[in-house]
Amino acid sequence: MSIVPLSTADLPQAVELSASAHWNQNADDWQMMLALGEGYGIHAADEQGVQRLAASIVLLPYGGRFAWVSMVLVWPTFQRRGLASTLLRHALSQLASRGMAAVLDATPAGYDVYVHEGFKPTWGFARYRRERAAGALVVEAAPVTCPLRDAHWSDIEAIDALAFGASRLPLLRTLAARWPAAARVVEQCGRVRGAMWGRTGREAHQIGPLLADDLPAAQALISHALSAEAGPIYLDLLDERRAALLPWLERQGFVLQRPFTRMVWGADNAPGDTRRIWAAAGPEFG
Ligand SMILES: CC(C)(COP(=O)(O)OP(=O)(O)OC[C@H]1O[C@@H](n2cnc3c(N)ncnc32)[C@H](O)[C@@H]1OP(=O)(O)O)[C@@H](O)C(=O)NCCC(=O)NCCS
Repeated sequence: MSIVPLSTADLPQAVELSASAHWNQNADDWQMMLALGEGYGIHAADEQGVQRLAASIVLLPYGGRFAWVSMVLVWPTFQRRGLASTLLRHALSQLASRGMAAVLDATPAGYDVYVHEGFKPTWGFARYRRERAAGALVVEAAPVTCPLRDAHWSDIEAIDALAFGASRLPLLRTLAARWPAAARVVEQCGRVRGAMWGRTGREAHQIGPLLADDLPAAQALISHALSAEAGPIYLDLLDERRAALLPWLERQGFVLQRPFTRMVWGADNAPGDTRRIWAAAGPEFG
């Protein structure tokens, strides 16, 4: 079974593959990832003898120091045959030849595969889901938010690069167009003190990344997105923000889904500085 680069021709099967693991990515997510990075896959004949995308991996280079590893997926009937490890080793050898580290957000199912390949755990976060809007939003005294405008991008790039550990402007600009109602900022005296993005998904909208100086700014940004969308919403809350934000999120109807662990390979620590991060962009983007 050979490893081949993924192209837009693989999109329908790539969406089937992520849906087989009950993941939320839609064709726009896969398209974004293939545009911003590089995807690899293994095709194989399934139980009916039909050739299908049996396994995938995506590398998203963020600057020259590290790449994000995402979409490590194996079709259920091909699991435990070494496909994920094969793709991971291929990806890591590419990164090693470029002198780059690898960073990813592991599900509990993927954790052992990554430890096996030398990844180390760093901090964690957990996914929460609000099923649908019910009743009035509980909003405490919150600052005003405004739509993200061109003038905000230089501030935002600096804040995000510090928090995330590399500039990811192309990703953030694409997200701003994916769910415009969620792409907002909190400003004070002309300075951005909070910014948030979101996107549509296969079965729910997703909030994130969310960067804010303080709790009121974070709540104000989330509130706006919650009032704009009545359907299911995911938010990936950092463990270190749980005590501050979770009680309020629970009052909005959010319920725990599953934990994730940020893991690194070829570096000692996760890049960036988490002090301003409230919600991650999601395991596929960081
Ligand atoms: C996690 C996943 C990618 C593993 O793919 P895979 O091709 O089955 O993994 P491999 O066969 O390469 O496994 C390599 C090693 O990882 C460990 N491993 C893999 N799956 C495991 C599981 N379900 N439980 C415990 N250990 C597991 C084992 O040590 C395994 O080696 P072994 O089979 O020799 O014991 C696959 O189960 C999957 O797609 N799951 C759903 C999506 C997901 O959670 N992806 C991870 C994203 S972070």
